[in-house]
Amino acid sequence: MNLDKRMQTIRDMVEERLRSGDNPARISQDILGRKGEITRLFQAIVALPEHERARYGSAANRLKAEMETVLKTGGSAQAAVFDPTVPANPGRYGTIHPVSQMIEKIVTIFQQLSFDVIEGNELVTEKENFESLNIDKDHPARDSHETFYVKENLLLRTQTSSMQVSEMSRRARLNQLPIRVVAPGKTYRRESDQTHSPMFHQIEGFMVDTQTTFADLKGVLEYVVDRLFEGQVECRFRPHFFPFTEPSGEIDIRWKKGAVGEGKHTGWLELLGCGMIHPLVLKRAGIDPRVYQGWAFGIGIERPIMIGNQVPELRRFFDGSLSLLKQFEAGV
Ligand code: DAH
Repeated sequence: MNLDKRMQTIRDMVEERLRSGDNPARISQDILGRKGEITRLFQAIVALPEHERARYGSAANRLKAEMETVLKTGGSAQAAVFDPTVPANPGRYGTIHPVSQMIEKIVTIFQQLSFDVIEGNELVTEKENFESLNIDKDHPARDSHETFYVKENLLLRTQTSSMQVSEMSRRARLNQLPIRVVAPGKTYRRESDQTHSPMFHQIEGFMVDTQTTFADLKGVLEYVVDRLFEGQVECRFRPHFFPFTEPSGEIDIRWKKGAVGEGKHTGWLELLGCGMIHPLVLKRAGIDPRVYQGWAFGIGIERPIMIGNQVPELRRFFDGSLSLLKQFEAGV
């Protein structure tokens, strides 16, 4: 019998005996034992002319290793036999990044309140990012906005507020007042430590109308925070200063007594900045502040994720950390 065929016969025989429930130890004796099939196969190979020995020798070695494995694993015939009906391993799918999940969550709440969603530019002028928002060259607020310049007068926005004036004037020109928009996106500052990353995310939002007041700002934002944290936190408004709103405030939150998150943090945590849009900002957008008022807010996206989930290091969101991504597989 030709040796290739003989090897195939050994394979078939082992498979057949295993399938019929024969004892693997006994099969092993018959195949791999001193007088077994494979031992005799090697003897036949040794007798071959030299130029044929190598080819058959390595094929027989492979067969021997294969049989040893099959018989050692208690004779699971499937281990050696490819079964095309077994479903493929699905592998791992990627998941939505926690920052995208949080944007989606916040934006959805605002959409349900009939806010439009837009995306502002990431590359903006100094005027858009600063001057139009009452932050002149020597204004102290510029100090906290360490800026990446691309070239003179063109920079990576340090705040999503940079979309305010251009969006307001666009809509004013098109006669599309009142305005209700939210604008999520990336922002950039030259800083990097445990709680700062050179790139981070914010959602800007504002409303402009003839009769909208600080009471609307409070009502809407309290409602959104309540939805976002599923009734688990309480809010407080704290006076603050932003050059482009007057009056300005910040919202702090803390876990309610008995809330799921209670104990993760105690005390108040700053969540967002807000205020009534400064009349000069409206004016720059071509909107008459004697007729219209507006209110605005800016929320950092990473912050609420960190608050709810004890992520101690902001930069982990952006370093491709699989353990962090897996933590948010089921949602933020
Ligand atoms: N742009 C501010 C920041 O980056 C956040 C902010 C505060 C936005 C008040 C607003 C606002 O629209 O009214 O810190």
